[in-house]
Amino acid sequence: MNFDFTEEQLMIQESARDFAQSEIVPTAVERDINAEFPHAIIKKLGELGFLGMMVPPEYGGAGLDTLSYVLAMIEISKADASVGVIMSVNNSLVCYGLEKYGTDFIKQNYLTPLAKGEKLGAFALSEPEAGSDATKQKTTADKDGDFYILNGMKNWITNGINADYFLVMATTDKSKGHHGISTFLVEKGTPGFGHGKKEDKLGIRSSDTCSLTFDNCRVPKENMVWEEGKGFNFAMNTLNGGRIGIAAQALGIAEASLEASVKYSKERKAFGSTISGFQAIQFKLADMAVKLDAAKLLTFHAAAAKDAGKKYYKEAAMAKLYSSKIAVDCALDAIQIHGGYGYVREYLVERFLRDAKITEIYEGTSEIQRMVIARALLDEK
Ligand code: CAA
Repeated sequence: MNFDFTEEQLMIQESARDFAQSEIVPTAVERDINAEFPHAIIKKLGELGFLGMMVPPEYGGAGLDTLSYVLAMIEISKADASVGVIMSVNNSLVCYGLEKYGTDFIKQNYLTPLAKGEKLGAFALSEPEAGSDATKQKTTADKDGDFYILNGMKNWITNGINADYFLVMATTDKSKGHHGISTFLVEKGTPGFGHGKKEDKLGIRSSDTCSLTFDNCRVPKENMVWEEGKGFNFAMNTLNGGRIGIAAQALGIAEASLEASVKYSKERKAFGSTISGFQAIQFKLADMAVKLDAAKLLTFHAAAAKDAGKKYYKEAAMAKLYSSKIAVDCALDAIQIHGGYGYVREYLVERFLRDAKITEIYEGTSEIQRMVIARALLDEK
């Protein structure tokens, strides 16, 4: 599908595709089985500029737009959605937030290594009792001279074991509700900061997810990322961009499902012809293609709105809601087309389904996206 991409955007897409097919695909099955973090791949992605795609060159980034990022995310996630989420978190939840809202101190000291991929980032908002209901943060940050003392727990943190820098939302003034939440950059190895066991997940198994614990963890006051009390706004604004990244991840899975299905249906024979000759298969392929293109348009639209400096939170929620839904649909159809072969690891499509499901859950469930969209509609009236 042509969205009038520039030569530069198409070049980024092609280089992401080449890298994904030659360096990510060959080890994806094994890493999924062993739940093995893709250290070498992430290092190379950083060297190629894919971990700080939208960060200006003065901070070590590639200085590209959101559309280029979406195109690259689709290609990387098509090869392996686990690599996709690691890339998405570093780009949209960490680098973007630091670049847009970070103090000079934060940018000078932390953004460049993250954008270059020398360090990896994580985003810590969710808690055991504050998932969708994110304003109910229990982690606290109490001022003590030149430090804040953090206490509490975070859950479901992507890159939680392998990240170097963590953006942590914590309450600095309980009396102000969500306007009393602030964001801190916490370095791995800070005394009092630890992590729980690696979660044994259904999908995106090659990425790591765990809880984080803060037990009288002293963080220098300079590591407050933005202004005191702006932490919830920071999280919400950053998540809007993150939702475009996850929409792109879902598109990669859907596209991989469609391509595998087209290929298989042209090879597999039954009742005297290839199964691509049967309407039952053709209609499934057609429906998958329509859904994929519609989801792409929503995602490109959200990315273009962000690049144009327009409001894009409703568009981002729509892109994530629909792309994640069709990723699950397309993966299910791909399994059905493959029959019994679709149910075994050797044929990949079962992984697409396991990987797709999480896109309906993280960075705001589908139910939360509907809330965001409905509120935007009602506010517009
Ligand atoms: N963009 C910008 N601001 C937003 C926003 C958005 N999409 N959604 C809400 N806000 C702002 C509101 O404008 C409001 O701001 P002010 O008070 O300053 O005016 C503030 O957030 C609170 O909003 P509400 O009053 O509507 O509060 P609520 O409790 O009724 O709803 C919510 C808030 C939308 C449900 C929010 O809690 C939410 O988005 N929850 C989902 C959280 C989420 O996405 N978690 C993902 C975790 S990160 C993750 O998964 C990372 C990973 O590792 C992969």
